[in-house]
Amino acid sequence: MNDARARILRLLRHGTLTPSELAIAAGVVQRELHAHIEALEKEGFSIPLHPLLGYEVRETPESLVAEDIASRMEVPWLRNIEVLSVTHSTNSLALEYGMRGELGPLAFFAESQTAGRGRFGRVWESSSGEGLWMSLLLHLVEPMRLWPRLTTLTALAVAQALEGLDVYPRLHPQIKWPNDVVCGGKKVAGILAETGSHPKTGPFLVLGIGINVNQAAFSKEIAGTASSLRILSGTQIDRTDLAARLLGHIHLSLSKIDAGFPAVLEAVKARSCVMGTHLRVNSGGTLMEGVAENLDPDGCLLLRLEDGTLHTLSAGEVTLRE
Ligand code: BTN
Repeated sequence: MNDARARILRLLRHGTLTPSELAIAAGVVQRELHAHIEALEKEGFSIPLHPLLGYEVRETPESLVAEDIASRMEVPWLRNIEVLSVTHSTNSLALEYGMRGELGPLAFFAESQTAGRGRFGRVWESSSGEGLWMSLLLHLVEPMRLWPRLTTLTALAVAQALEGLDVYPRLHPQIKWPNDVVCGGKKVAGILAETGSHPKTGPFLVLGIGINVNQAAFSKEIAGTASSLRILSGTQIDRTDLAARLLGHIHLSLSKIDAGFPAVLEAVKARSCVMGTHLRVNSGGTLMEGVAENLDPDGCLLLRLEDGTLHTLSAGEVTLRE
C-alpha cells in the first residue's frame, strides 16, 4: 500500500483541492503528486483536474484497492494492506508472512482465491470480485489464553459492519455460534482463525474472514444454505466501504478482548440465532443434542443436554433442530 496515495484519496473525499493545496496537505512535492494521480488512474480512478477548482475524484473502481480501503478507515491501525487479484488463500498467505517473521497488524485481501479454506478443511467458494476474502495477521500483546475470544469478537464485528450498511430494508445479521454470520437463515460470512509462531516475533494469530457480498447465485451444493448480501438486500454493495467498516469494527473489538468482553458477550447473545434453541452439535467428533442455555465468560457455549447435564463447548459445528 502506498501511504501518500491513501492520503490523497482521503483528502479528495472532502472536496476538490488545487494541485498545490493537495501536494502540501498530502506531504508530497507536485512532481510526485502527478505520478501518484497517474498511478491511481491506472488502478481505475478518474481524477480530473478542473482548471479553477483542482482535482476531484469522479469515479472509483469496483475492484478493491488497498489505498482506497485505507483512505476510508477512521483509525489507520494497520501497518499495511495488500490487495491481490488472485492468491491460493489469504489465510495461507498471512500464515506465510507470520512464519517469515513479518510483524502485524497486516491485512490481506484477494479478489479471488484458488484454494479458499473453511473450517474442518472445507472448500470456501471464493468467486472473483464478488466477496470479501480477507485475512489479518495479528501479534497480540494479550495473553494467549484470551486469544480464543477473537472468533467471538470478530463474529460481532462482522455483524455490526453488516448492520451499518446503507441498504433498505436494513440487514439483520445473526451470529450462529461459534463463528458464522447468517442472514435470513442462510450463511453470509464465516471466520477461520489459525495460529503460528516465529522464533523472533513470537506467536501470532491469523483471522480469516469470508463475506459473500455481491454473488447473484451460488452453486447447487450450497445454494440451500448460503446467501449473499446482494441477494438479501437487492442492492449491489460497495465492497471497499464494507472492508473499511469491517476493519474499523475489528479494531474496536480487539480492544475489548479483556475487560470489555462481558459487554461483547451481551451484544453477541442479543444477535444469536442459537440461544434458547434446540441444537445438534458436533464437537471434535462427539455428537450432542441439547438446548443452548448461555455463553460462558470466554464465549464457550453452555449446552443443556436432555439428561440435565450442562456441557461447556469451546468449538463445534452446530445444526439448528426444527
Ligand atoms: C468457515 O465458515 O468455514 C470459515 C470460512 C473462512 C473463509 C475465509 S475467506 C478469507 C480467508 N482465506 C481462507 O482461505 N479462508 C478465509
